[in-house]
Amino acid sequence: MAIDHPDERSSASRRSFLRAALAAGGATALAGPALAGPAPAAGAGKPSNQPPNVPDWSRSLGDGVAVRKYGKPSKHEAHAIRRDVEWLTATPQSSVSFTPLHELDGIITPNGLCFERHHAGIAEVDPADYRLMLHGLVDKPLIFTLDDLKRMPRVSRACFCECAANSGMEWRGAQLNGAQFTHGMVHCVMYTGVALKLLLAEAGIKPNAKWLLLEGGDAAAMTISMPLRKALDDVLVAYRMNGEMLYPENGYPVRMVVPGWEANMWVKWLRRIEIGDQPWHHREETSKYTDLLENGTARRFTFVMDAKSVITNPSPQAPLNHKSGLTVVSGLAWSGRGKIARVDVSLDGGRNWQPARLDGPVWDKALTRFYYELDWDGRELLLQSRAMDETGYVQPTKSALRKHRGVNSIYHNNGIQTWHVHNNGEVENVEVG
Ligand code: MTE
Ligand code: CO
Repeated sequence: MAIDHPDERSSASRRSFLRAALAAGGATALAGPALAGPAPAAGAGKPSNQPPNVPDWSRSLGDGVAVRKYGKPSKHEAHAIRRDVEWLTATPQSSVSFTPLHELDGIITPNGLCFERHHAGIAEVDPADYRLMLHGLVDKPLIFTLDDLKRMPRVSRACFCECAANSGMEWRGAQLNGAQFTHGMVHCVMYTGVALKLLLAEAGIKPNAKWLLLEGGDAAAMTISMPLRKALDDVLVAYRMNGEMLYPENGYPVRMVVPGWEANMWVKWLRRIEIGDQPWHHREETSKYTDLLENGTARRFTFVMDAKSVITNPSPQAPLNHKSGLTVVSGLAWSGRGKIARVDVSLDGGRNWQPARLDGPVWDKALTRFYYELDWDGRELLLQSRAMDETGYVQPTKSALRKHRGVNSIYHNNGIQTWHVHNNGEVENVEVG
């Protein structure tokens, strides 16, 4: 979690050019330097590879097709990886790795970078032996093979998956220095699978059915209760992510996709669905995934993930490498209640707010990308973002959240995040107010 100290990259001429470009108002004026990319740090790179010289990679034939049977990012991007925090958990089998949000753009998380959360490690399921049992309050108990599921009518949709414990370490104050660690228990993937309601219709549910128990096939045999109304709404039994079959760490070959609801319900390596008339009150919905309030009672069955946002760049792992001038503030917003309607950005710790620009598709219960461009004068900033969803819900400040919920909680921290941008471009996780 070390912060790389930013190089002082900008030359005076580049700074003045950017200022002129901003004054000229825009894109056409910027085309020149934008194509050239940021000025390299003094002494960085090999001048013999730079204009007017012919670079090394232009002097010989490259690898042919199919040398790389499965594509990987450039070796120069080796820092864009999932990371874990060793001291956070006792074992790596019951632990979490975080999505490198500050290394990504747009709204889709690449399969290899989706955060992982396992209670008992990754189950390595042989698809030939995969079976999904459906029983309980049904007319006809059923067992599906993977092929059975693939032959059923399928749908594809992108949605975010956020662990209820995302930002949980930040309840009592600013802790971890990086958007990857404070907010990286979220990913957004295009899933393909069968609507759960089709499987239920196939089995025929009894009139007194009200709840489902979902069980994973991992060593934790993780179970969770889900109300029938959600199962009949938009839940998927998914086998593909971003077009590919699910990765083992994300539930291969079959997982639940529960749009907008906390990720502990997104049971991986799905093995069994039981239909009942009441919740089961198992571990993950009693001692875990509940929120202990100041008065000693606990919030339970807090399924929906409320609207939240975070600035991914700049952030502690992605400092500003220029001294001033054109700067793109970028981030993500999402809501378990629907679409993101608006995101505001503050440069002064929440005193003044400006609307950010939502970019790309704004999908129901999916990550939404926002940008806010500014001509940074090199001064310190207290950067914040605040999401609003289509129901009118506004992301709260951390202090407003604590007023309601106290400080015992781990789950459902959707408070506004503050990044302190120093005048040397370094960024720090702080709290204001
Ligand atoms: N399903 C099973 N079978 N076992 C698990 O440990 N972890 C849950 C959920 N489904 C879990 C599971 C939790 S708490 C989260 S946050 C998500 O899976 C994480 O999904 P991901 O690993 O694809 O990011
Ligand atoms: Co989780």
